Amino acid sequence: MSTPFTAVEARAPGKIILAGEHAVVYGRPALAVPVFGVQARVRVTRRGAQWWVTAPAVQLDARLHDLPAEHPLRRAVVLTQAAVSGLPPAHVHITSSIPVAAGLGSGAAVTVALVRALAALAGQALPAARVNALAYEVEKLYHGTPSGIDNTVITYARPIVYRKGTGWQPLFVARPVPLVIADTGQSASTRAMVRGVRERWQAAPARVEALFDAIAQAVAAAQAALATGDLAALGQALRDNHAHLQALGVSTPALDALVDAALAAGAYGAKLAGAGGGGNMLAITRAEDQARVAAALRAAGAARVIVTTVPATEAP
Ligand code: PMV
Repeated sequence: MSTPFTAVEARAPGKIILAGEHAVVYGRPALAVPVFGVQARVRVTRRGAQWWVTAPAVQLDARLHDLPAEHPLRRAVVLTQAAVSGLPPAHVHITSSIPVAAGLGSGAAVTVALVRALAALAGQALPAARVNALAYEVEKLYHGTPSGIDNTVITYARPIVYRKGTGWQPLFVARPVPLVIADTGQSASTRAMVRGVRERWQAAPARVEALFDAIAQAVAAAQAALATGDLAALGQALRDNHAHLQALGVSTPALDALVDAALAAGAYGAKLAGAGGGGNMLAITRAEDQARVAAALRAAGAARVIVTTVPATEAP
């Protein structure tokens, strides 16, 4: 079969979990939003008879088949080959401004962009549900037992309420939410953090289940606040969620220091975002306070600060 394109590019945004991380692995709902200020870009070009992959940010420039079979990029290509017909060997060029291992979805964004670029190279558009399912398979290589929230929010590129097993729904955001995201600069393994929570859950199931229920309550409060545009109530829900994550043992002194700095600078609320153990935190602010909160986070030692806004969505 002849292919209509010789070079194609696809992009995918980063993401952040607003509320509900960890508890989502145990069936509670969580809220996630795309972060459009950072993105993964995958360009694929036709290339003779062999696959090649270049990702300068991680010093990768190799024949795809020299990567281990379980390598996420190799797995993404193999799964896409099975999903689309007539995919020719390609040179995959990956560039991404999404920080790696920081809870911003870099792995899922690269997978989603790669699957879409390859499908386009073969002249086909895969339905979003198919892209999402392929990206979930690859997420398992990164995370072990992922809930599926990262690949879902990045595939659909809109705010979502996610529940493992039953899937996702659009999250209604009545008015724009100014966000400041700050990185501790400490990289953390999601897989190790999820394993740590599982060990605590096995050791003290009643206590940890009660924390998951408390997190679910904070998620419900955050969802209601987003639907009415009540940023003060949203901030309170996120502060509650952070306290529960501290009790779960996934915060760190560096994350707590950034959360405190954001609150002291006037943020409505702040919490760690993602698996914890390092990585990022987020703060909700008034639009006019965003720059001040960002400066306070830099002064408190943040390695990188992203100032962004979650756009309002259409009413359901
Ligand atoms: O660190 P992140 O943002 O990739 O997210 C991890 C979120 C967890 O709830 C801790 C795990 C998961 O698979 O949902």
